[in-house]
Amino acid sequence: MRPLLVATLLAGCGGAPNEIDVSTYPAEMQARYELFERRCTRCHELERPLNARVGEGGWEHYVAKMARHPGAGISPEDQKEIAIFLEYHHTRRVQEGP
Ligand code: HEC
Repeated sequence: MRPLLVATLLAGCGGAPNEIDVSTYPAEMQARYELFERRCTRCHELERPLNARVGEGGWEHYVAKMARHPGAGISPEDQKEIAIFLEYHHTRRVQEGP
């Protein structure tokens, strides 16, 4: 399917999932998802990053921005892992749809 069509279908869906099914993701991505779930739900629901429209390659910067919030407590190693997961997840979402 052409990317543009997929994007249109996604936009029409309107759901705001607060968790995702990562059972088809590679094991190392599932591990990163757990880390992401633990680190990124302290101040808001997971729904925010899961549905944010951050462009390709933008997650590293975004995760670093979140980590700068007072009390975020996300180590540089964790930031790296979480950014890898979010890049992967959003790329897959664009390719496959929900
Ligand atoms: C210490 C608190 C805190 C933690 C931890 C935190 N965030 Fe946030 N986040 C915020 C606040 C406050 C906002 C809203 C204001 C802003 O954008 O800075 C926000 C907003 C966001 C948004 C914007 C959503 C929108 O509608 O534009 C995204 C995406 C996001 N966070 C992702 C993450 C990710 C990914 C993590 C884990 C790496 C994370 N956040 C961890 C405090 C936090």
